[in-house]
Amino acid sequence: MLDRFNRTIDYMRMSITDCCNLRCRYCMPNGMKVPKVPMPEVLSYEQLLEIAEAAVTCGITKFKVTGGEPLVRKDCADFVGRLKRLPGVEQVTMTTNGVLLKENIDKLKLAGLDAVNISLDTLRPEVFRDITGFDKHRDVIEGMEEALAAGIRVKINTVLQRGMNDQEWLQLAGIAKEKPVDVRFIEMMPIGYGKKFDVIYNEELQDRLEQIFPDMEEDVSIHGNGPARYVRIPGFMGSIGFISAIHGKFCSECNRIRLTVTGKLKPCLCYGETYDIREVFASYAGVDTGAYEKRQDELVSLIRKSVLEKPEAHCFEKLAEITETREMIEIGG
Ligand code: 5AD
Ligand code: SF4
Repeated sequence: MLDRFNRTIDYMRMSITDCCNLRCRYCMPNGMKVPKVPMPEVLSYEQLLEIAEAAVTCGITKFKVTGGEPLVRKDCADFVGRLKRLPGVEQVTMTTNGVLLKENIDKLKLAGLDAVNISLDTLRPEVFRDITGFDKHRDVIEGMEEALAAGIRVKINTVLQRGMNDQEWLQLAGIAKEKPVDVRFIEMMPIGYGKKFDVIYNEELQDRLEQIFPDMEEDVSIHGNGPARYVRIPGFMGSIGFISAIHGKFCSECNRIRLTVTGKLKPCLCYGETYDIREVFASYAGVDTGAYEKRQDELVSLIRKSVLEKPEAHCFEKLAEITETREMIEIGG
């Protein structure tokens, strides 16, 4: 459906868990104080599927399954399959840290997963441990290889941090030379722990990349639903993407709403406003068709409302105006 600014909203990011098997320092560092969401507050798969059905009625046909780390939730692959099979659902993708990808890849392929975004900030196992707290670098690389072998499209998401992996960006970009993978640099966003970090601006990376590869060209072919700008380098199999949250405002092309792990519809990443979906399930409980239909009506109107309340743009460049106080793991990125 169209929002107030004539943007077509056809994409929903669904966070299915706030748990994660890594502890990235800018997201969920060891010892962080956000309490785990109690299980009864997490939407069940059945509820998520009902929400997806209502979303389809609103013209939302593409879904991203996120977390935390979605693959730590039991039966995640099975959920992906059920979501993909819902009438009207055109595309289901996932954002994952890749640690559990290898062991889930057959099930995910069977489920019809269209693509994965794998978070990978370094090619060095010891730096991986420093960033994420775990020695799981190898699992992520193997997960990526398996996904490619299974014919699932892969994108790499990289967040650069000064003094940690910022000297490695060219090697990371080099993954796109060797493999049919898009490598995307995401500017650190001032959400949760991300507020404590310096942003390494994509503009600078793009300039440096252009100096090294003068025949690099803007890639205007569509690469999924994201706000990334892409460039192609001759001889590279994949493209290089830049998600420049701070300066490269992509809000005029925004196509999404988010569903947090506790069932809050969230019109924009930057602001705290949400619409509570769990109230719909609380008010119209029951498995009979009447209750289901009533819920669908209510869900459709809540989704419409949250789309119509989408603000025109984020304000990540003006820290004082950001009203989102949740952590990234609750929102799903
Ligand atoms: N800013 C930018 N990206 C972030 N991610 C997590 N926290 C932040 C932040 N504050 C990234 C992860 C993952 C994606 C889902 O979001 O690295 O790739
Ligand atoms: Fe887990 Fe992703 Fe957060 Fe790292 S960035 S702690 S992998 S949810």
